[in-house]
This record gives sequence, structure tokens and C-alpha cells, in this order.
Amino acid sequence: MGYNLILLGPPGAGKGTQAKLLIERYCIPQISTGDILRAAVKDQTQSGARAKEFMDRGALVPDDLVIEIIKDRLSLADTAAGFILDGFPRTVAQADALAVMLKSNGKSIDHVISMTVDNEELVKRVIGRLTCRGCGKGYHQIFDPPAVKGVCSACGAELYQRDDDKEETMRSRLLTYESQTAPLIKYYSSLGLLRPVDGLGSIQEINDTLAKVLEG
Ligand code: AP5
Ligand code: MG
Ligand code: ZN
Repeated sequence: MGYNLILLGPPGAGKGTQAKLLIERYCIPQISTGDILRAAVKDQTQSGARAKEFMDRGALVPDDLVIEIIKDRLSLADTAAGFILDGFPRTVAQADALAVMLKSNGKSIDHVISMTVDNEELVKRVIGRLTCRGCGKGYHQIFDPPAVKGVCSACGAELYQRDDDKEETMRSRLLTYESQTAPLIKYYSSLGLLRPVDGLGSIQEINDTLAKVLEG
């Protein structure tokens, strides 16, 4: 089995946090549609302008836009030995499009790691999150603080609070997840690719569990 991975889970489940650890362990890139979209918003590109209104209200950005982003990203050479899709696919249409694009390159998904955490814990995690402007690494004011306040321990850049990490927007994101993304659990389960992982526990414990699942 290879390392063509999907991290599936609600907002705050720990997809980004675990992806950063998997990069180090397996030397494969993290592909986060959320990070790519936030960079596009910041750079004021056309797709960034289009995406922003959806992101600000906790809705999904249209499928065609994210599918295009992923198609471009997966065509880069650094994905040859594997990749971690973080936050993509998020709809059945995206999952179908992914299968088609991988097949045309003679590839397929090896594991879909499905992380579950209850909603109240998710809200606590997201409300207290700090994100690095440089490398996108996430921290938490209480659960995972940086060594130096306001500064990324990995790259030294400034930490900020994401625009959509307000309680109200987070509640919309959870509803969006339930209605549009949760159906992917069944979708990948029926393909025999689903690897359910309890997302509660320490960051290190969960990382160890992931390694067992991937190397098992
Ligand atoms: P995106 O950036 O993907 O956000 P998300 O899915 O809402 O997920 P998060 O990044 O909030 O959570 P995470 O699971 O990465 O958690 P993290 O590891 O940071 O998407 C943003 C928006 O972009 C979407 O709303 C949508 O509009 C758009 N978008 C993106 N992809 C799209 C797509 N494919 N289609 C359409 N639209 C798309 O952890 C969270 C916090 O918890 C951190 O503070 C962390 O330190 C802490 N933490 C992590 N693990 C633990 C632990 N074990 N114990 C305690 N605290 C922990
Ligand atoms: Mg994330
Ligand atoms: Zn950083």
C-alpha cells in the first residue's frame, strides 16, 4: 500500500495538525484546499475573490473551483511518492472528480483517514486556534501553545486568528460538514478505504495511531 492519503473530518478535527506531522514522518506533501484558498484570498486573485464570500459564511466553495486547484496541485512532481489531501474532497462530486483524475494518471487513493471528535470539543478547538501566516501550522491557545507567544515555533512567522474561526461561523461550518461532507464516510467505507480514527486524545497519541493504521 502506498501513501496516497485523504484526511477526512469536521472542522477542528485535527486534519492540519496531523498532516504537518505526517509530512515529517513520510516526506510527502500536505495539500490543503483551505490553505490554498486562504493564500488566494490574501493575494487577491480572481479565484480568491470568488472563494471569500463562501468561506466567510462557513459554506463550501463551488466544486469546479476546488477541483481545478487539486488538478493543478496533483500534477506537480512532488506528489509522485504520495500526498496528504487535507480538506479535499468535501462533496461526493469532488470525490468522483478525484477518482477520475487519479485514474488518468494510473493512481488511486490508498487510505481515507476519518477523524471523529464531538461538536463541543470541535468548537473549543477552533475558537482557540492560532494559525501561522508563514507555513499554515496550527496552534491552540491552551491545548497546543507555541513556545513564544504569537510566534510560530516551526518557521518564526506571526500567528493570527482565521476569519472563519468565530463561534457563529464555526457552527455553520459544522452544519455544512454534516450535510455535504459526512456522506463521504459511507462513500469511502463502501470502497473499503475508510480507516476510522478517534480524534480525541493527545496530538502525539493520535499521530501514533495514524502511523499504526498506515503501516499496519
Ligand atoms: P479548511 O481550512 O479546510 O478548514 P476546516 O475543514 O474547517 O478545517 P480546519 O482547518 O478548521 O480544521 P483541522 O481539522 O485542520 O484542525 P486543526 O488541525 O487546525 O477550510 C476552510 C474553508 O475553505 C471551508 O469552510 C470552505 O469554505 C473552504 N474549502 C476548503 N476546502 C474546500 C473544499 N474541498 N470544497 C469546498 N470548499 C472548501 O486543529 C484545530 C485546533 O485544534 C488547533 O488549534 C489545534 O492546535 C487543536 N488540536 C488539534 N489536535 C488536537 C488534539 N488532539 N487535542 C487538542 N487540540 C487539538
Ligand atoms: Mg485545517
Ligand atoms: Zn510557521
